[in-house]
Amino acid sequence: MRKLPPRQRLSGTFRVPGDKSISHRALMFSAVAQGQSRLRGVSQGADVRSTRRVLEAAGILFRDEGEEIVVDGRGWNGLDQAGDQALVECDCGNSGTSARLLMGLLAARRGRFRLHGDASLSRRPMKRVTGLLSQMGARFEGGDCLPLIVQGSALSSVTLSTAVASAQVKSALILAALQATGTSEIEEPAASRDHTERMLVAMGAPLQSTGLRTVRVEGGGAALLPLDLDVPGDPSSAAFAIALACLLPGSHVTVEDVSLNPRRIGFYRLLSRMGARLEFERAGQSPEPIGSITAHGSLLHGIDVAAADVVDAIDELPLLATVAAAASGPSTIRGASELRHKESDRIATTAAMLRAFGASIDELPDGFAIAGGTRFVPAAVDAHGDHRIAMSAAVAAALARGPSSLTGGEWVSISYPGFFDDLERLSSQP
Ligand code: S3P
Repeated sequence: MRKLPPRQRLSGTFRVPGDKSISHRALMFSAVAQGQSRLRGVSQGADVRSTRRVLEAAGILFRDEGEEIVVDGRGWNGLDQAGDQALVECDCGNSGTSARLLMGLLAARRGRFRLHGDASLSRRPMKRVTGLLSQMGARFEGGDCLPLIVQGSALSSVTLSTAVASAQVKSALILAALQATGTSEIEEPAASRDHTERMLVAMGAPLQSTGLRTVRVEGGGAALLPLDLDVPGDPSSAAFAIALACLLPGSHVTVEDVSLNPRRIGFYRLLSRMGARLEFERAGQSPEPIGSITAHGSLLHGIDVAAADVVDAIDELPLLATVAAAASGPSTIRGASELRHKESDRIATTAAMLRAFGASIDELPDGFAIAGGTRFVPAAVDAHGDHRIAMSAAVAAALARGPSSLTGGEWVSISYPGFFDDLERLSSQP
């Protein structure tokens, strides 16, 4: 059990671990590139380590050289050797991104791959990926949930629209389509994060975004160029200290070198709509826009968040609900039923956590209704095996009048192992 202290004020400059979404992709895509990739700033979180572990099990070699990970890519069929021998065990841990993207990556490889994960991941829906990949000829053994066996097979192109706006589903389809015969067209109901497209285009892959919501992919397994990449910091990790700085009067905090990809900073746009004083400074682009975000103590008011706002802020909605509970006036968050399929049922776990701190919050089928103006009381809460619930609880506890406690604080290591240390440091600066 971890003690969560109240906080007066945050100040200082900080950096966060490499972006989790970009790190997964950098490891996977460099694994099948032709030649040596050099990656800096890859997340050390447990989820990204799961991706590395699976790729290693499938025969890929990664070398740590100081700050860099060096990857000796041998093309798409660099993944075939291990599969030739036997069933390859692929332990995806807690990581939905690992499991779902790997399904697309492995679907056309030679071999049998058994994907499995922890209790949380084993409850999450996989048909959304396997169902669509099957239309390309991919073969899976199992049901909607892990464990599942991917039996590599020859794939053909598809033209399809996905039912959910999910970068994991889209990315799995793109990875399979690159290895299929013919040209595929993938459309989503709303534009999800585009890290896969940006990185693959930088690697010379024959794909094109033909609109905000559609991507066209040439099959044929063309060789990918190796990567020389600095992974920007993760805006989803930075969001906790930034939000807390907005909530604590007199705070001034800057996070440097984070991804400013528009598909990833929806939370910050919503925070601004609530009255937060935020400044963004662009510092470069390679292939992701990167820069710093500064936050000042602000007076926040409630907000109505609709479906159109949800995709770009999906991972930060437990935190947004926490901020809304503290802000003046009511808030609603709608169109977010996807939260029920994350590491925990985040509608239920966020509401339970915030109620323990004294908030008045109702669960809706697809979101929350939050009264606002909460006087936070100390609480003993559980992370429910969910890193983002653990970090949101630390923010709620910081607003309480006395110390709180958290069971399962270690789950922060999924995405942000140094979270509690960074928060401590920002709280103790003059
Ligand atoms: C991710 C996509 C999102 C997000 C997850 C990471 C990715 O999931 O919630 O944390 O890296 O592609 P969905 O694709 O299920 O929306």
